[in-house]
Amino acid sequence: MTQKRILTGDRPTGPLHLGHYVGSLKNRVKLQDQYDTYLLIADVQALTDNFEHPEKLGANIFQVALDYLAVGLDPDKSKFVVQSMVPELTELTIYFMNLVTVATLERNPTVKEEIKQRNFAKGIPVGFWSYPISQAADITIFKADLVPVGEDQLPMIEQAREIVRRFNKLYAKVLIEPRALLGSTGRLPGTDGGAKMSKSLSNCVYLSDSSEMVRKRVMSMFTDPTRIHGNEPGHVEGNPVFTYHDAFNPNRAEVEDLKERYRKGTVKDFEVKERLVAALEAFLGPIRERRARFEASPAVVREIILEGTRRGRFTAQATMEEVRHAMKFDYNFA
Ligand code: TRP
Repeated sequence: MTQKRILTGDRPTGPLHLGHYVGSLKNRVKLQDQYDTYLLIADVQALTDNFEHPEKLGANIFQVALDYLAVGLDPDKSKFVVQSMVPELTELTIYFMNLVTVATLERNPTVKEEIKQRNFAKGIPVGFWSYPISQAADITIFKADLVPVGEDQLPMIEQAREIVRRFNKLYAKVLIEPRALLGSTGRLPGTDGGAKMSKSLSNCVYLSDSSEMVRKRVMSMFTDPTRIHGNEPGHVEGNPVFTYHDAFNPNRAEVEDLKERYRKGTVKDFEVKERLVAALEAFLGPIRERRARFEASPAVVREIILEGTRRGRFTAQATMEEVRHAMKFDYNFA
């Protein structure tokens, strides 16, 4: 039996953070042992709202690759693929554009939310607005069965599934209808208590943060807004400091003890945060070590990226042969 295939990806817009880890990276590290894994560094998608400064993306690609290696993604098991270096993706995106209506794109809740956050001064660029189509190409060109992602990406998978159904019905059954695979903890709130950790909201703890930075970010975290003094009973549910404890502190007894005392009003925010800093330091220590090791050998990282991309492109080219054939669009006048 051939191994099932996984495809997922990240926009190289900056360093990856704890939200990425909880929502997706953690799962990928586990899954790479069982699945044929492709990780797309989605610079073409990042270009859709960074087109005024494309030169930034190159350095970011390198940083994302370092983050991958740092969390334990193994290039022997996971192929790191640079999106812009697989031009077949562009071709498939154009073919897919015929299979999606404007109305469907307009309903995509993730894109709607992102448009709101960005408030594009000159109107919404078509490239940004239609990126779910290009993401459907990302997923299908590698014939992925599963797409491990965070919750916010579910509409993208749904869009991809819809396109696959249309394509297979219209032409021939060559594409695979992908399924989403959610991380176990789901969405991590921001340090500000906001629903989502996100670079654009400046509420992140980054995987590459120094110890001093981690401490600073944790100490400034929001807790229970209804509790003013450490000797008042407080809320644990919806309190981001406890959500982080749940996600990153393996000492369950300690977490339960802190929760109990917090509810009774016998522990101060400061102690809960101190314990969180300790837990995060223990978690980030080995990640920092691996990152430093690869950072010291940029030529090795470059080779990892090139080799992953080469293998990714090979798969993409094979799929495109099938796609053009299915569409009877493989005529040539030679
Ligand atoms: N849209 C994803 C994000 O913003 C990145 C991405 C691009 C992706 N292509 C993908 C994710 C394909 C999963 C599958 O994080």
